[in-house]
Amino acid sequence: MIFDILTIFPGMFEAPLGESILGKAQARGIIQVRVHNIRDYATDKHQMTDDRPFGGGEGMVMKPEPIVSALEGLCREGPRPWVILLSPQGRLFNQKIAWELSRRPRVMLICGRYEGVDERVSEYYTDEQISIGDYVLTGGELAAMVVTDSVTRLIPGVLGNAGSALVESFSEPILEYPQYTRPQEFNGYRVPEILLSGHHEVIHRWRRGQALLRTKLRRPDLFLRLDLSEEDRELLRL
Ligand code: ADE
Repeated sequence: MIFDILTIFPGMFEAPLGESILGKAQARGIIQVRVHNIRDYATDKHQMTDDRPFGGGEGMVMKPEPIVSALEGLCREGPRPWVILLSPQGRLFNQKIAWELSRRPRVMLICGRYEGVDERVSEYYTDEQISIGDYVLTGGELAAMVVTDSVTRLIPGVLGNAGSALVESFSEPILEYPQYTRPQEFNGYRVPEILLSGHHEVIHRWRRGQALLRTKLRRPDLFLRLDLSEEDRELLRL
């Protein structure tokens, strides 16, 4: 899968995407992350990528020409990309959208800056806008990294434990149960005894109960949408 990232700050992507699972996925050729500097496509003397807003007002707006010139130039080679503008005004990103994107051969992520991007870019040259949450970042770069990371781990062969992403995809949206590792006692705090019991069935039920309980307490919105079995209800009554 190819990720084309359009940004005026290509340096922001160097370290974060080269490490760990994303770094390995690139080294193994499962994904290709190409970062393109929008400024390289600006044709004026000062290679300007932004300008003052028509109608007046604070701040600067990203010019359409360099972005569209980059986009069109890159589209001439390879499969047609699904073009996304990262913006707080976009569709709210979630795991379902990550799965959708993971099935595409090529995704282009345009990172906006300043007060925004000339509206004609989103209107006529992109397939959709995506927001990673109801808060405002200084630009789309971190959002593009979030999308790249969460999509990459869903691509077959990327995760060491091949099944783990797949299992998630079919399971309901529920929070994870708590995890512990050695030592059994840390600063006087003990691991729940049940996890040391060796009774797999009992442990399995305890974990299910914990997952249900935390989802109910921390994410009542998700909890309401769960399809609970009779055993789940029983676990919650305990
Ligand atoms: N750019 C600025 N804020 C953003 C957000 N929340 N999601 C995506 N892109 C953004």
